[in-house]
Amino acid sequence: MTFDRSLKIAPSILSADFANFGAEIRAIEMQGADWVHVDVMDGHFVPNLTFGPPAVKAFRPHVKTVMDVHLMISPVDAYIDAYADAGADILTAHIEAGPHIHRTLQAIRAAGMKAGVALNPGTPADAIAHLLDMADLVCVMTVNPGFGGQKFIDMTAKIRKLRDMIGDRPIHIEIDGGVDPTTAPLVRAAGADVLVAGSAVFKGGSVDSPEIYGANMRAIRTAAG
Ligand code: DX5
Ligand code: ZN
Repeated sequence: MTFDRSLKIAPSILSADFANFGAEIRAIEMQGADWVHVDVMDGHFVPNLTFGPPAVKAFRPHVKTVMDVHLMISPVDAYIDAYADAGADILTAHIEAGPHIHRTLQAIRAAGMKAGVALNPGTPADAIAHLLDMADLVCVMTVNPGFGGQKFIDMTAKIRKLRDMIGDRPIHIEIDGGVDPTTAPLVRAAGADVLVAGSAVFKGGSVDSPEIYGANMRAIRTAAG
């Protein structure tokens, strides 16, 4: 993976057909997805429950771009090697998920993956001031994590602050939650380069009409500028 700040769309397969992940992943990539975002939830850190390492490993052969795995689990450290083995390219942990995020980010890199740190809406940008040299990606949650299809929470001030803090470091700013053609321009202008979108990409489409996914992604991209 080379680093750049060009706009990237990362569809969240949380909004895909759960009986057909292989075909869904192939469809979004064929239609222009830059990364594939996988939301891992544990029924403890967040109320919802999704994909363990064997499920993520089964997605891997279908992903030709970048498999971006967002852990909404606590604790994290005991599962890092399992998600590395499952083939994650980027593994993101929440700063709120435990007392030792510094150790967690070190362990993610040591396991051969890019390390991401996610911030819930209530967590300030300053919380990662001492982690900037440990992280390859900062994920700014624009919903309270747990479910797709929630209303966007405006975090543009936080994104701007993070963009300043990051400076020239090769760190992606990813936005997750409620991204659509209306909200994408706000977060892009504030400094984001990776836009996760679930419902706004998958709505109206299917593996039999994948061109809708393409049109949905183009609408986000065009609006973001
Ligand atoms: C929220 C997840 C998101 C979510 C995005 O807990 O991390 O990735 O699925 O879904 P939309 O785009 O529908 O808000
Ligand atoms: Zn996510």
